[in-house]
Amino acid sequence: MARRKMLVGNWKMYKTVAEARAFAEALGRLSGRLSDDLEYAICPPVTALQTLRVVMPTKVALGAQNVYFEPQGAFTGEVSTDMVKELGARYVIVGHSERRTLFCETDDLVQKKVQAVVAAGMVPILCVGENLVERDAGETLPVVRRQTERGLAGLSGAAVAQTVVAYEPVWAIGSGRTPSAEDAEVVIAAIRGVIAEQHGLEAAEAVRILYGGSVKPNNIAGFCGQPNIDGALVGGASLEAESFVAMAEAMAGGDNA
Ligand code: 13P
Repeated sequence: MARRKMLVGNWKMYKTVAEARAFAEALGRLSGRLSDDLEYAICPPVTALQTLRVVMPTKVALGAQNVYFEPQGAFTGEVSTDMVKELGARYVIVGHSERRTLFCETDDLVQKKVQAVVAAGMVPILCVGENLVERDAGETLPVVRRQTERGLAGLSGAAVAQTVVAYEPVWAIGSGRTPSAEDAEVVIAAIRGVIAEQHGLEAAEAVRILYGGSVKPNNIAGFCGQPNIDGALVGGASLEAESFVAMAEAMAGGDNA
């Protein structure tokens, strides 16, 4: 079954509304270079969603970087699924390692958020990945298994099929270090195996699993050329329109679909 490859930018806490608008305008000038064979999304700070919904090229979907799982209430500083959906978000990143480590998000909380995003009719991008201590201890596969099982628990096979998972080894994020494409493929194939066990073969074959961590225009094709890697979740290299387009071109050129 052919899974459509995706290029997703996670802007983290970068770009004011004015800067986001400038990116979208620059991307608009370059958008003829974005192949229709791929799917694209940018997850900006929530403050920029409304503007980007108007000025972003239509080929590029929008996502949020986080939500709270409750629909509304006394949760100072949080935003709900309906709030980001209203601003045009189709995706929501859930369980990014920065949220797990800096903001103490547990597997339990991540699971509730994934369920809230699905219930709201958006697509979660569930992030999993081991840190350096876990990797050195040989615990990569048990860690990603636990995070995947817990993150997707309670979802139907049909819901899992629509979901996106991103394997982001914590030590590769923003570090300029990456696993080899072959090593990333092994972990991502294992994640697909876990999903097959828990949610059935059909869901496992449909779910898209991305690689993330120091992805750049010069290494993206290697990752995305692997049979189980369905695209990339990119931080730093997604902040400039030219670099975003260069990654899209490298992915489309190296596509083995
Ligand atoms: P970098 O691409 O900057 O390493 O960030 C990866 C990431 O965390 C995307 O979610």
